[in-house]
Amino acid sequence: MDEMPDPAVLLAWYGRHRRHLPWRSAPGERADPYHVWLSEIMLQQTTVKAVGPYYTKFLARWPDVGALAASPRDDVLRAWAGLGYYARARNLHTCAKTVAGQHGGHFPDTESGLRALPGIGGYTAAAIAAIAFGRRAIAIDGNIERVIARLFAVETQLPAAKPEIRARAETLVPQRRAGDFTQAMMDLGATICTPKKPACGICPWMAACAARARGDAETFPRKAPKVEGRLRHGASFVAIRADGHVLVRTRPTKGLLGGMTEVPSTDWTHSFDEAVVLAQAPLKAKWRRLPGVVEHGFTHFSLQQVVYVARAQPRTKAPPGMRWVALSALHGEALPNVMRKVVAHAGLGARPR
Ligand code: ADE
Repeated sequence: MDEMPDPAVLLAWYGRHRRHLPWRSAPGERADPYHVWLSEIMLQQTTVKAVGPYYTKFLARWPDVGALAASPRDDVLRAWAGLGYYARARNLHTCAKTVAGQHGGHFPDTESGLRALPGIGGYTAAAIAAIAFGRRAIAIDGNIERVIARLFAVETQLPAAKPEIRARAETLVPQRRAGDFTQAMMDLGATICTPKKPACGICPWMAACAARARGDAETFPRKAPKVEGRLRHGASFVAIRADGHVLVRTRPTKGLLGGMTEVPSTDWTHSFDEAVVLAQAPLKAKWRRLPGVVEHGFTHFSLQQVVYVARAQPRTKAPPGMRWVALSALHGEALPNVMRKVVAHAGLGARPR
């Protein structure tokens, strides 16, 4: 390595080449904490591209934290539908109520104060503290891990390398413009220091990069072999009433997809016996198994869902805990993506967003 990576060089690069994202302020300027918080919650486990339209929609509908806090939770869940990881939407609303009710509508301006709020973990607290309040903190995501692992040619495998990577990253954070620095690191990782074929030839930190000097940047970060999340199986029952209604229910508040709408479905398990699955159907009817399966990826497992359909008589009552929804109103339900795929597989509307 010729020299230590200079934060000022990266900040200058950020001034010229940063991504223009709807929640960002101009370089050197602080962004509105509500905007930063909203975007960071949405960006947890979701791509910049997917978040854009949701961020704009939320901001138009709830221009400040007080407006979001005053809105019914179901409205927030409905607006969130399609973004995934729905615990985030529930926590978002709880957090808005806490900030509006207990902090006079102002977000705390320290990492520890932010961390105490619902839905805000270490990463998000650091991101908001740096980007909205200029605190000397760094939010280390996968992009930044890769940049640091390459800059210092960190030989330790992830995840064991995390403390070393953090310590290295913290030495680089400048006193001023820590928020721009975090975002510049994110952008460098997303646009130049990419997982495959990094564009080292145009990198502002080229001369300081240990992996580049060795010529094997692409082989970093070192990683322990990943254990694949096991495949799970389940079945959904799409009952369609002759008057154009479909049977749905609301999932329990706690747990995966909590509080979201689903067509009645079995649990998602590793062993799954299609022979006995019809015993779990919500109604007595002529259930027909559709060809093919719906596939969906959750963070910790992949799902293969078989879909049964049946026609129900016009005045069939909904079983306890379930309700009939007009097909025309299905798109307005808080239907998570996996259920959008299920109803699309059954030939109904509400396609995946
Ligand atoms: N991912 C998480 N936070 C981000 C941000 N502020 N800018 C770009 N990507 C991000």
